[in-house]
Amino acid sequence: MTSMLSEDLEQIQATAAAQIAHASAESLEALRVSLLGKAGTVTLALKTLGGLPPEARKARGAELNTLKDTITEALTVRRANLDAAALTHRLAAERLDVSLPARAEMAGAIHPISRSMEEIAAIFGAMGFTLKDGPDIENEWNNFSALNIPAHHPARAMMDTFYLTGGEVLRTHTSPVQIRTMLAQSPPIRILVPGRTFRADHDATHSPMFHQTEGLVIGRGITLGHLKGCLIDFLRAFFANPDLPVRFRASYFPFTEPSMEVDIGWNRKTGEIGAGGDWLEILGSGMVHPNVLANCGVDPREFQGFAFGVGVERITMLKHGIADLRLFYESDVRWLRHYGFSALAQASLHEGF
Ligand code: DAH
Repeated sequence: MTSMLSEDLEQIQATAAAQIAHASAESLEALRVSLLGKAGTVTLALKTLGGLPPEARKARGAELNTLKDTITEALTVRRANLDAAALTHRLAAERLDVSLPARAEMAGAIHPISRSMEEIAAIFGAMGFTLKDGPDIENEWNNFSALNIPAHHPARAMMDTFYLTGGEVLRTHTSPVQIRTMLAQSPPIRILVPGRTFRADHDATHSPMFHQTEGLVIGRGITLGHLKGCLIDFLRAFFANPDLPVRFRASYFPFTEPSMEVDIGWNRKTGEIGAGGDWLEILGSGMVHPNVLANCGVDPREFQGFAFGVGVERITMLKHGIADLRLFYESDVRWLRHYGFSALAQASLHEGF
C-alpha cells in the first residue's frame, strides 16, 4: 500500500488492514472498537497530538486523519463484503424450487360430490349436452307452478322447502332450470344442470342441502327410446359397468307423462352394484308434460322431449361405499383425504372413472 505515513502509523495501518481482512462478522465490531473506540489505538494516538510542538502537530494530525479514514473505509468495505457473503449463503440455503410438486399433505382434493358432477357432465357432454345453471333462490312459479305442480298439489308437500319472506323458495330441485331454459331459448334444447338443491329434511340419508343434476332434451320426434338409451348409457358409464342391469319403472311426477323411476341392479346384502337380484332406485325421469311445454311457450304438438333428475349424493354414496350422507358436509380433513380426488386427475371419459 502506498502511503505517506510515518513508520509507526504505517505499522498500525498494516496490522489493522490484516486484522480487518480476516475479521468475521462477529469479531468485526470488536476490532472497530479496539481501533477507533474511545480507548482504541488510533484514538489514543490522536490524544498524543496535544503534547507536540505546533509544527509537528499539524503534519502528525494530517497523518492520523488519513490513518483513521483508511481504517474506517477498510471496516466499511469488510462489513459490506461479509453482509453480501451472508446473503449469498442464505439465498443458497433457502432456495425455493418452484418446479417441485406440492407437498402431498398440503395438496387440496376434489370433493366426491364435485367429482361426481364432473363425471356426469363428462358423460352427457360426450352426448352433446351443454351445461346450464340457475339460482338457488327461485320463484314459486319456476319451482312449482310452471312444472305443473299447482298451489295445493300434494307434490308440494313432498318437497317441503324453505320459504323466504318475499314469496321465493330455496329451490327444491334443479327442474326450474328446465323452465328458465325453455323460456330463454327455443328448441332444439339439450342441457345438463348440476346444482345445489334444498329441502326441509335431515337424517342419515337426507340433508337440507344436497345436489342434483337435471337433464332436458327438447326437439322434434324425441321419444321414450331416446330417454332410455341416454340413461342406460349414462348409468353404465358412471358405474363403469357395461353390463349394469337398468330397469324403468312407471312412476309419477307432475312435470312428466309418462314418468319413470330408474333402478339399477344390486345386491342388497353385500351392497355390490350390478350383481344380485335386487333393485335400487337411482333417478327420476319422463317425457316432458305437454302442460310444461305450453307454460314455456313451446308448442307440444310440434316439440317433444324428455327430462331426468339425478340425486348426486345418492349415486356418489353407492359408487364409493359411503354409508352416511352427513359425512359429505362435515369437512373432516381425514375423510376428504381418503375420499377426495386429485385436482390434476380430470374427470374424462377417455381415462375411465
Ligand atoms: N325433480 C325431481 C325431484 O327432485 C326429479 C325429477 C324427476 C326430475 C323426473 C326430472 C324428471 O326432470 O323428469 O324429485
